[in-house]
Amino acid sequence: MILHWREALENKNDTFGTEGGSALYAIIVHGGAGNIRSKDPERIEIGIKKAVEAGLDVLKKDGRSIDAVEAAVKVLEDDPTFNAGTGAVLTFDGEVEMDAAIAYGPNLDFGAVAGVKNIRHPISLAKKVMEKTDHVLLAGNGANDFAKLMGSEPHDPTTQERKKQWEKYRKQFINGDYKDWPKLRKLFQEHPEFLHGTVGAVAVDSHGETAAATSTGGVFLKFLGRVGDTPIPGAGTYATPNGAASSTGLGEGMMRVLITKVAADFLRMGLDAPHAAEAVMNYLDNTVGTEAGIIMVDRHGEIGFAHNTPDMPYAYFKEGMAEIESNMR
Ligand code: GLY
Repeated sequence: MILHWREALENKNDTFGTEGGSALYAIIVHGGAGNIRSKDPERIEIGIKKAVEAGLDVLKKDGRSIDAVEAAVKVLEDDPTFNAGTGAVLTFDGEVEMDAAIAYGPNLDFGAVAGVKNIRHPISLAKKVMEKTDHVLLAGNGANDFAKLMGSEPHDPTTQERKKQWEKYRKQFINGDYKDWPKLRKLFQEHPEFLHGTVGAVAVDSHGETAAATSTGGVFLKFLGRVGDTPIPGAGTYATPNGAASSTGLGEGMMRVLITKVAADFLRMGLDAPHAAEAVMNYLDNTVGTEAGIIMVDRHGEIGFAHNTPDMPYAYFKEGMAEIESNMR
């Protein structure tokens, strides 16, 4: 059920505030929006659960949420099932250009890279931008030069599976089967196979500190130089002292809505993560109406998720749960 934001505010958890309260750690990851489940549900479930486990290894040892979300996203970047790192989708010209961002809630810190090539872990490069520079976002050749400076080894993320898909889609496009390409909304509704999802993780640690991380190859057949929502603060990735959010779907819509910023604002207004996720999806549906999904945590360890696409694989763990839950069973 999608709640209108006013309704969600009325139903808010009254114990949610911005001060006080003990911190329960929690983490949720997503494997992208679209029709990804039809591809290989078992592989997807294994991948997203492994990512949660990597994040939990950090959180259980009293570690920091920022390290937990990086660890989780690195697992997904190494798994060719997902559209991030190895296995990222190809541009119209047959190249892999990746975007990634990381956000740390307590200080509104943010680091991002856009259009990077030949990098194994764009999420770690984004974290280095946050920690080692005074900038927020590095793009293209400059970001790749920075990667070299940081000791990153060249890595070709192109897989044979993605190359075959690229050949097929490109041929269909050139033959005119996708002649309505500029009408992105219609195109993605009719051909959700273009939306090979982004990956993301959000977490809150036992100190009540929140963080978000998102990584993507973007969308199939994108123009060289196209940057999506992922590395834009408040679009694909955002974290504040109140919570953290990572989104997936068609970047062009989420950049216009600033979906993760609006979601964070809902937390600040007093909603908990489950209600904020539903409320922001309602807002997106009633404005740009493009394909989207979002995962969230709030600083009290509540988890939220919502999507308007056929699928959005996710897995999560909250302190006190017996095992990792996933929607892929
Ligand atoms: N959400 C991923 C992209 O549009 O680039």
